[in-house]
Amino acid sequence: MTSQCLAGAAVRDAVFADLRARCAATGLRPGLAVILVGDDPASQVYVRSKGKACESLGFHSETHRLPADAAEPELLALVARLNRDPAIHGILVQVPLPSHLSAARVQAAVDPAKDVDGFHPENLGRLLAGAPGFVPCTPLGVSVLLAHYGIDVAGRHVAIVGRSVIVGRPLAMLLSRKGDGGDATVTLCHSRTPDLAAVTSACGIVVAALGAPAFLDRRHVARGAVVVDVGINRIDDPEAPKGQRLVGDVAPEALDGWASAYTPVPGGIGVMTIAMLMRNTYEAAAGRGARA
Ligand code: GUN
Repeated sequence: MTSQCLAGAAVRDAVFADLRARCAATGLRPGLAVILVGDDPASQVYVRSKGKACESLGFHSETHRLPADAAEPELLALVARLNRDPAIHGILVQVPLPSHLSAARVQAAVDPAKDVDGFHPENLGRLLAGAPGFVPCTPLGVSVLLAHYGIDVAGRHVAIVGRSVIVGRPLAMLLSRKGDGGDATVTLCHSRTPDLAAVTSACGIVVAALGAPAFLDRRHVARGAVVVDVGINRIDDPEAPKGQRLVGDVAPEALDGWASAYTPVPGGIGVMTIAMLMRNTYEAAAGRGARA
C-alpha cells in the first residue's frame, strides 16, 4: 500500500503565511512569554523552538528562566507580572515543572485571556461546553493537520490512545463536537483498556498519544487506517550523531506501507503544536480565543 505522509511543515508554512498576512493587515505585534523552570533538556529544546518561531513571524518573545529550586510564590509573582504586561498577549509555562511545584495551580494563575496553552480550567471548560476559548495546541494541531490534508473525521470512528489533559482528553472533545472538524465517534483508550488492539484496530483513525516509544504496532492498526502519532520519545541509539534519536508512539511497521496516511516523527504533530501556539498567540493579541 502507498501511504501518504502527513508532514507538518507544509501546514505550518500555510499557517505562518496567514499569520504574517494578518499581522501586516492589522499592524498587531503579538507578544509571547515563555516560562521555563529548571533545565530539563527536552523542555530547553521546545522553548528554543518557540522563540525561533516567534522570531520568524516578527512576534515579540521573552523567555523567563527560573532555577529548578524556584519557590512557587516566585513563579506565581512572575505570572502575575506577565498578566499585567500589555506587551505580552500569551503566557506559556513549560511543563513538566519540578515536582515541588503544582502545574495546576500555576496554570490557573495565568489570565485566561493570555492562556495560549489552553490549560486554564476556564478554557478547558469552554472546550467541553463548545464555547469559544483557547484550545490546547497539540489537539488543535491534530485537527488542523487532518483538515489541511482533507481527512474528514465526521462519521468516522477515532481511537485516541492516551488520556492526558494536554492531548487525549481535549482532542476527544474537539473531534466529537458538533460541526466542522468534529462529528467523529471517539473512543478514549488508556493503560487500563482491556485488549487495546481489538479496540484500536476496529477504528479508521488511530491517534497515539501515550508517550511510549513504538508502543503500537500492526496488531493495533487496521491496514489502510489513518495514523496520527503524537508521541515524541528520545531513545538511545549509538548510531545516531548525538547518541539518541526521536521516535513516535507507533512502530514504523504500522506506518509507511501499512497505513493509508500517517504523521511522521519528527516533522508531524510536533511542528503543528508550535504552529498552533503562534496562532493562539495571534488570536490573544487580537483579543479573542482561537477555535479550530
Ligand atoms: N510540554 C510539552 N508540550 C507542552 C505544551 O504544549 N505546552 C507546555 N506549556 N508545556 C509543554
